[in-house]
Amino acid sequence: MDFLPFARPTIDEAMIAAMADTMRGRWIASGPQVQAFERALSEYVGGRPVRTLTSATAAMQVALEMIGAGPGDEVITPAQSFFATANVIERTGAKTVFVDVALSTRNMELAQAEAAITPATRALLPTHYNAPIDPAPLAAIAKRHGLRVIEDAALAIGSRVDAKPVGAAGDLVSFSFHPNKNLTTIEGGALVVNDDREAKRVEELRFHGIRRNADGTPEALPPRANPGHSWNMFTVLLPLDAARTTRKQFMDAMHKEGIGIGISYEAIHLTSYFRGKGFREGQFPVSERIARETVTLPLYPEMRDTDVERVVASMKRVLRRKAA
Ligand SMILES: Cc1ncc(COP(=O)(O)O)c(C=O)c1O
Repeated sequence: MDFLPFARPTIDEAMIAAMADTMRGRWIASGPQVQAFERALSEYVGGRPVRTLTSATAAMQVALEMIGAGPGDEVITPAQSFFATANVIERTGAKTVFVDVALSTRNMELAQAEAAITPATRALLPTHYNAPIDPAPLAAIAKRHGLRVIEDAALAIGSRVDAKPVGAAGDLVSFSFHPNKNLTTIEGGALVVNDDREAKRVEELRFHGIRRNADGTPEALPPRANPGHSWNMFTVLLPLDAARTTRKQFMDAMHKEGIGIGISYEAIHLTSYFRGKGFREGQFPVSERIARETVTLPLYPEMRDTDVERVVASMKRVLRRKAA
């Protein structure tokens, strides 16, 4: 007799074909497929904004950060859930306040949760376990006490309350796409949020505070004496003054030539975060110069010599046109 595992991901031929297409397209990190998936999830939850993350754990972590949970706060959660549900609370420095679950639904006892609320409580973090949690009574408690709700809906894609899918109502709702869930992306998660402002915040939190997408990301001639270089990136400094151009104009013009350009990197100390800690221009002049002038040119193993020549010809054309 075959061994029957307790869970087994459904992977059909259509999924395998879609994965092969994605691999052939080479855009295997966040790209058009991920955006299409986010749109489909948003449609599924009745139009609420949805952003994907690398796991449900990441989604809950981002949700807690969005609502500002931290030291001195309390977050109420069931004692019966996967460890991630409490771990994400502990990670913020907030206190995990456990309440029991109902045996039939395996969900958090809402009356106990309400009784556990103190002035330090910031959020409720219930898990949809055996049965979906109705978001209405949760929202009522949250409203009475001025709290936020993060629904751990890791297990609940496909669940419905009054014919509406979990995630269609409520505050912040996180899903998991781990292989033992109803829908898998191998590893992955998503967070349903309330509006575009929150969606932008998730985008910032999931990508190091960077606001633009990968295509608009800025990147400079590496030193010749460079033994052991990994040649992962080919970065050069642009002669911006001589060419009478800005990096943005250069990048846009190269893009029009069909050539993608990146920036590696900005000066970390001049981000708004570190400026807030007192860092200013002039403290690290070399890093700042590189940050202003650097661009990353295409470089990868499959580039042909003709591709390299095309990049060089385009750069010459663009820089000379500007200087003229
Ligand atoms: C209830 C619950 N919450 C959170 C998670 C974490 O999901 P992920 O593995 O996507 O981080 C799981 C995963 O099994 C889970 O069962």
